[in-house]
Amino acid sequence: MAPGRLSQVLSKLGGSCKNEDGKILVGFDTMDDAGVYELSSSQALVQTVDFFTPVTDDPFTFGQIAAANSLSDVYAMGGVPLTALSIGGFPDDLDSEIISEILRGGEDKLIEANVTLLGGHTVSDPELKYGFSITGLVHPKEIITNSGANVGQVLILTKPLGTACAATALKIGVVVEDDIREQLESMKLLNKDGSRLMQKYGVKGGTDVTGFGLIGHSVELATSSNVSIEIEMKKLPVFNRTWEFIKEGYTPQGTKNNLRHFGVDTDLSALTDDEKMLFADPQTSGGLLLAIDEDKAESFLKELNEGSIIKGAIIGRVIEKNEDFKVKVL
Ligand code: CO
Ligand code: CO
Ligand code: CO
Repeated sequence: MAPGRLSQVLSKLGGSCKNEDGKILVGFDTMDDAGVYELSSSQALVQTVDFFTPVTDDPFTFGQIAAANSLSDVYAMGGVPLTALSIGGFPDDLDSEIISEILRGGEDKLIEANVTLLGGHTVSDPELKYGFSITGLVHPKEIITNSGANVGQVLILTKPLGTACAATALKIGVVVEDDIREQLESMKLLNKDGSRLMQKYGVKGGTDVTGFGLIGHSVELATSSNVSIEIEMKKLPVFNRTWEFIKEGYTPQGTKNNLRHFGVDTDLSALTDDEKMLFADPQTSGGLLLAIDEDKAESFLKELNEGSIIKGAIIGRVIEKNEDFKVKVL
């Protein structure tokens, strides 16, 4: 859903999430990736659900991406995923072989993540959709949230930007899967290592960058942490051909929705129109955006990028809350 519409419908809720016993450690009010519910002083449940329409015509790859994307919200909270339930909407005339391939792709990533599939639910749906609800565990003192970023820290983004403009180019038919290999590899890549490193380096503030784009998720991080953020456009990692896709106008409606909704909280006056499109590009199975102490950032990145074809980067810093903007791009 578009970000403004989502917050509008959510604002009508409240009765079921009063948290009278204090066991809701993270509810939906802080715009975090997953909910966290305390089981004991040493264990909390992390729960999330995510499903979407195909970003590729290859069913196995789509299954892999759907699983990596769903798992990501548990990783983003610093949790370890344990179990999964799949959710699918499949057209009646879709070949059973294709559905099997989608499920096999999903299973492939669940196995890689060491996650057990417990079951699922499917409905008949004219528009194909697939994804998972994931349950994981986290120590209550090791939860990573949107509210944990501190002034003076630097920001790391663990994957390049530009999955939505590539998926749009693919949908229009101006490129084939082989032309956007890098983007597909990135969407398939689990945020497992990034999550493990966040715990190793004591990161407290972070999220994954998904549908709201870097613009939305950086605004959420700044808002919940009560700080402002400065991002350097030149430091943003991008995929092959991303600028070409943006210049050709392969930007989905989501990009414009993100710009409109989060534009009021951002100072993008230094950017060209194309740069704004990149900053607001919705990501599918995007990277982690995290705030880390400056003296640890280089070692974190070195460990993250070592042996990986998908490279993260230091992209900005956390500054004192500024009344004029939550996020400024330089
Ligand atoms: Co998320
Ligand atoms: Co988020
Ligand atoms: Co999500």
